[in-house]
Amino acid sequence: MNLFIKKPKKPLKGRIRPVSDKSITQRLILFSLLTDDECIFEKISLATDPLSTLEAAKKLGLNVRLEADTLITKGPGFYNLQEPNQPICCGNSGTLMRFLMGLLAPSEIFTVLSGDDSLSERPMERIAKPLRMMGANIYQRVNGKAPMAIVGSQLKGIDYVLPIASAQLKSAIILAALHSEGVSNITEKIPSRDHTERILKAMGAKLTLNDANIEVQPQEKLHGLQVRVGGDFSAAAFFIGAVLLVEGSEIIIEEVNLNPTRTGLLRVLKRMGAKLEIEENASVEPFGDLMVKSQELEKTEVSPLEIPSLIDEIPLLAVLAAASKSETIIKGVKELKVKESDRLEGIIKLLSLLGRHSFTDGDDLYISGQEGVFNGGIYDPQKDHRLTMAAAIAALNAPQGIIIKDAECVKVSQPNFYSELEKIGVLIEEA
Ligand code: S3P
Repeated sequence: MNLFIKKPKKPLKGRIRPVSDKSITQRLILFSLLTDDECIFEKISLATDPLSTLEAAKKLGLNVRLEADTLITKGPGFYNLQEPNQPICCGNSGTLMRFLMGLLAPSEIFTVLSGDDSLSERPMERIAKPLRMMGANIYQRVNGKAPMAIVGSQLKGIDYVLPIASAQLKSAIILAALHSEGVSNITEKIPSRDHTERILKAMGAKLTLNDANIEVQPQEKLHGLQVRVGGDFSAAAFFIGAVLLVEGSEIIIEEVNLNPTRTGLLRVLKRMGAKLEIEENASVEPFGDLMVKSQELEKTEVSPLEIPSLIDEIPLLAVLAAASKSETIIKGVKELKVKESDRLEGIIKLLSLLGRHSFTDGDDLYISGQEGVFNGGIYDPQKDHRLTMAAAIAALNAPQGIIIKDAECVKVSQPNFYSELEKIGVLIEEA
């Protein structure tokens, strides 16, 4: 399905409660396999990636009852995981495949993990390598990519300094370490999202966090949890972007997860002059409401240290930087090459369609911003959900409009993305 979106005639107004957090929903489902207590998760995300996670967990023995968006689970517990007689398909989700590698490597079962075309091209060796150092038996294609087979075995703890700032890598090692012999120490040079640590600790896992170090003690039993999942900041980000680009706009985004390891974009946008008010509450995860008003942005420089806290928001940030005054530099962006598509290439193509110059030099992205409207045309986001949503937001500053190819791929993370945009006043047509 191709969609056509253009600059709206009137300012955007209204209230939005974004789709619930994908990263947290996926973790809750997977971690509930590790306990035989009942868990209750309210307001889970029903996007495609979390649904693939639910299907995978069911194959491994998770009993589930889904009542609207409340999920009640009864897990087998780690030592009673069920061996599936079919491969587990991880769909488009890197989080699902990488977490399963860590969770299943120390188990007693044999599993095969596969994914869609995009996931089968993404690097998995970065996870397999430290797991093999712990004693894991993981067999991949010669290029180190999926599909892969895991023959569960007894693992030993590890001391490991993460060579890449990746929450998926960190989480896979934590999951393996929980069921290995001896203590593990995982060190992050740059902090990445910490949902895994927060949720596992709330389930009783013995994780000791000390600056950049996470000490993991092996654990026989975890206990159940009741959690209400907040709105996904990565989903909220696109609506913040929409408001900033359309003059006179003002919206409230309700009940958003505001975990500081995820909200780097807020800090960068504030630096660029954005008008944002935040009302925050605390829980296992912090959440709150965001009041956003349209505003012209200034240039900025984003450092490599900030990248993990806004990794999924870079396509959107690039669009906002393209509409701001003069050059913005986003440093240390090479991980974008191995996301659901080569997002660096996708960003540069999108900005060129908008009439703005951008280029990479080493690991850094340079964007020549310019105030005023964008050009339009046809954009192919290569079925990458975040590039698709970034293009939809860019279209709000393009009087000629943009036709976005295969626009339905947003369902991977935000099935209601277009209807929420319509709710605040954006006109969307099939093309
Ligand atoms: C995720 C971590 C990030 C992010 C992805 C979800 C997670 O990946 O890009 O969308 O749920 O832990 P990396 O950890 O590989 O950077």
